[in-house]
Amino acid sequence: MGDVTTAEEYRLLGFTEADREAAEAYEADPAAVEKLAAQLRPLLGAFAGEDELDMPDDPRVSVATFLKLLPEIRRYHQQRGVSDEVSWATLADLGQQLDVHRRTHGEYGLETHWWMTIHWAGAIYALGRLQFLLHQVPAGSPVPGTEPGEWVIGVHIPETGPLTPEAVDDSFAQAREFFPRVFPEYPVKTATLGSWLLDPYLLDNLPQDSNTVRFGRRFTPYGVPEDSQDSAIFFTFRTHGLDRLDELPQDTRLQRLVVRRIKEGGTWQNAFGYLRL
Ligand SMILES: CC(C)(COP(=O)(O)OP(=O)(O)OC[C@H]1O[C@@H](n2cnc3c(N)ncnc32)[C@H](O)[C@@H]1OP(=O)(O)O)[C@@H](O)C(=O)NCCC(=O)NCCS
Repeated sequence: MGDVTTAEEYRLLGFTEADREAAEAYEADPAAVEKLAAQLRPLLGAFAGEDELDMPDDPRVSVATFLKLLPEIRRYHQQRGVSDEVSWATLADLGQQLDVHRRTHGEYGLETHWWMTIHWAGAIYALGRLQFLLHQVPAGSPVPGTEPGEWVIGVHIPETGPLTPEAVDDSFAQAREFFPRVFPEYPVKTATLGSWLLDPYLLDNLPQDSNTVRFGRRFTPYGVPEDSQDSAIFFTFRTHGLDRLDELPQDTRLQRLVVRRIKEGGTWQNAFGYLRL
């Protein structure tokens, strides 16, 4: 035991071979690792809301820190009664995010290292197709039908295959069982979603029987959509920026829709919705 991550743990964490080799070869500055670990440890199980973390300049330090803290987050999951299956599925988002980074930038790294701090705080769980983030409704961002401070689960959609209605039904069924059992002190009645997948333009212009539209229509819209051109570009093409629009693949209806709207002068948005569990 100790600080060395085993081959089996790398596998369960979803690392590709290339990312495991790179993680093993990277010699992180122990002081930098400890600086992040010292910030993350108090957050584990604290549900402290959005903390300002001083993340390392080099996200590879963050990966080394997540690996170092693996025994602690695993112990927390076990103490809470989270199954091994859900625990590893949750933590395997690390490997998935490394893979997304590699596809986006062509090398080992973790652009989204801040996102993985939520997993290592014990606040998000992968239940089937979807991830659910337990948090309180912020006073500044009210959700209809909820009180400020009420506990809700935020829905997240990893890039792990089609978003079929059956898989989504199954995830919500799991969530209805999981949260009251594992976190009885934080009762939840509502799920929220803030995503480019709720952009009203997307929901109106993709086929109405597509997985994406059927998923989006489950949520009742609220709030004001926010411009976020990069979300549609990043989640569809795993690249950033608008410089090379003409080089982006145009094989699927989504790819064509994303590029066409931008070329016509439009702006993609993140939008918000909620549903009762
Ligand atoms: C959300 C997601 C799972 C939907 O996938 P899906 O279930 O296959 O989507 P649909 O069945 O609704 O697809 C409708 C059309 O869009 C295309 N499409 C969907 N997602 C695509 C993607 N990421 N890249 C390219 N094309 C995509 C489909 O191929 C289909 O087009 P076609 O009929 O020409 O083949 C997928 O887009 C994805 O993994 N996105 C990245 C993660 C994400 O966006 N998370 C939310 C972050 S806020």
